[in-house]
Formats: sequence, C-alpha cells, structure tokens
Amino acid sequence: MSTDSRSVLVTGASGGIGRAVCARLAQSGRALVLAARDQGRLLALCDELQSVRPGRYEAIPVDMGDDLAIAAFGERLVDQGTVLDGVVMMPPQMPPTNDCMPPNDTWRTLFQRSFIGPLGLLKAAIPAMQPDPAQGQRVKVVIISAITSVQALGNYATSNVLRCAWLAEAKTLAFALGARGIHINTLSLGATLTPDYMASLQRRAEQAGVSFAQRLADETSNIPLAKYGRPEEVAVVVEQLLGALSDHMTGANLLHDGGFTRAY
Ligand SMILES: NC(=O)c1ccc[n+]([C@@H]2O[C@H](COP(=O)([O-])OP(=O)(O)OC[C@H]3O[C@@H](n4cnc5c(N)ncnc54)[C@H](OP(=O)(O)O)[C@@H]3O)[C@@H](O)[C@H]2O)c1
Repeated sequence: MSTDSRSVLVTGASGGIGRAVCARLAQSGRALVLAARDQGRLLALCDELQSVRPGRYEAIPVDMGDDLAIAAFGERLVDQGTVLDGVVMMPPQMPPTNDCMPPNDTWRTLFQRSFIGPLGLLKAAIPAMQPDPAQGQRVKVVIISAITSVQALGNYATSNVLRCAWLAEAKTLAFALGARGIHINTLSLGATLTPDYMASLQRRAEQAGVSFAQRLADETSNIPLAKYGRPEEVAVVVEQLLGALSDHMTGANLLHDGGFTRAY
C-alpha cells in the first residue's frame, strides 16, 4: 500500500521516461497522478503499476496544447481533494530540426504544446499543493529538460530556444515560490535510450549499414562515460530530487548526459 497520502503528478507518464519514473516512484510507495493525452495507455499503466506495488494510481488525461483541458485538469485536482507534494513535468518533445527560422505557425504550436501548456498545467496544479516549510512539508517540482538548455545543438534548433525559456522560467519560479516551500529544479537530459530513441538509433544504423551495437559505439564515442542514459537512470535521479536531496536546492539545473556537455 501507499505509505503517503500525498501524490506526485507525473506528466508524460506513458512515455519512455515517464513509465520508468512511475515504476520507480511506485516501488517506493508514492501515490501517483498520471497525465498524458491517451487515457487508455494511462489506465493500462495504472494496472501495471498495481502489479509493481499496490497503491493509489490515478489517470487524468490532458492535452498540453489545449488551455481549456488544462484548466479542467487543475479544477479536477482541487475538486477531488488531491494534495500534491511533487510534480514531474515533462514538456512534450520538440522534434529535431536544423531550421532555425521555421514558419510562425510552427513556433506557435511548439510554444503552446511544449512551454505555455505545460507551464499552465503547473500553475493549475499549485492550488493542489499544501507546502508548510515550518513543518518540513515541502513540494518538489522537477522539470525535465535537455542539454540544449546549456548549449546550442545544430540539429535541435527549436529545442535550443524552448529549453532556454524553461531554464529562465524555472529560475524565476524558484525565486517566486521558494518562501512557500515549493522547489523548482530542472533535470537536463542527454540522449536517453527510450524505446523510441532505440528505434531511431536502429534506423540510423541501417542507413549507415552498420550493426546497432556499432552505431551506438560510434554515437557515444564523444561522451566521457561512453554511453547514452537509460530511463531507469533518469528515474533514480528524479526520485532523489523529489526527496530530501533537494531540501536546500531550488533553481538548479542538473545535467544527466554522461559528461557530454563541455561547458562549466
Ligand atoms: N528520450 C530522450 O532522449 C530525451 C532527451 C532529452 C530530453 N527528453 C525529455 O524527456 C521527456 C520525456 O521524453 P520521452 O522520450 O519519454 O518522450 P515520449 O516517449 O515521446 O513520451 C511523451 C509523453 O508525453 C505525452 N504527450 C505527448 N504530447 C502530449 C500533449 N500534447 N499533451 C500531453 N501529453 C503529451 C505522451 O503521451 P500521449 O501521446 O498519450 O499524450 C507520452 O506520455 C520529454 O520532456 C523530453 O523532451 C528526452
């Protein structure tokens, strides 16, 4: 059974990293609110988590591109009396592109889905938080980002912009919400071997006419730890950031990239 009446909200819960985060938190006895668009996948995940460890897992579908759906999501949390002591915010991915000046409509869609929408969801979730730092009750928000938050990458032109916007917003929120006991930290990932990422790696291997293992070795040869991250490794760090590790940390941006980023 869950050991805590408070819940952690995980957005992008049914994705490659989200599933690993949910499994890890469920193993630790955390109650979870799972969010993404596809309700069927969320409900299936709730069932899987029950088999990992019986507990309180709730699926609430929401589309980050839809302001009305986001407002309804927040109202539902409050109406049903959900109390959040953690949020793992995973803004939907920006697809790789080297087009640094895409059409205005592309920018509008990306900003809505990957910045304005997720930020709106976080805002809508704040009334469901009841931090009380004097009693040691803190709320930990972990925003999943990418290493384009600290360095521009040629093939991630729109990600370069949006991740920096998130970094600035996270730091600003950290200042605004710190005294209330709400912590905002960012975890910037390098390439992580989700099923989708493995499939794209397989395609690149086939295009290059080499084996999967060879392609993986080639792509990771410029990473000090000579490997890509695994979703389970991300989940360990997220769990720690939701816990006592971050009791005196807010506004921080941690890199989870095997040492790939050269900047200090
Ligand atoms: N994998 C990597 O190599 C990598 C690297 C750097 C950063 N990241 C970041 O890590 C996070 C998770 O990545 P991932 O690889 O696990 O992604 P993923 O497998 O593509 O999963 C995406 C998740 O977000 C949900 N989602 C997509 N569009 C949505 C929308 N409009 N509204 C609400 N939910 C939506 C999906 O479910 P539905 O389709 O049902 O909505 C799914 O649960 C993302 O923030 C990503 O940018 C990943």
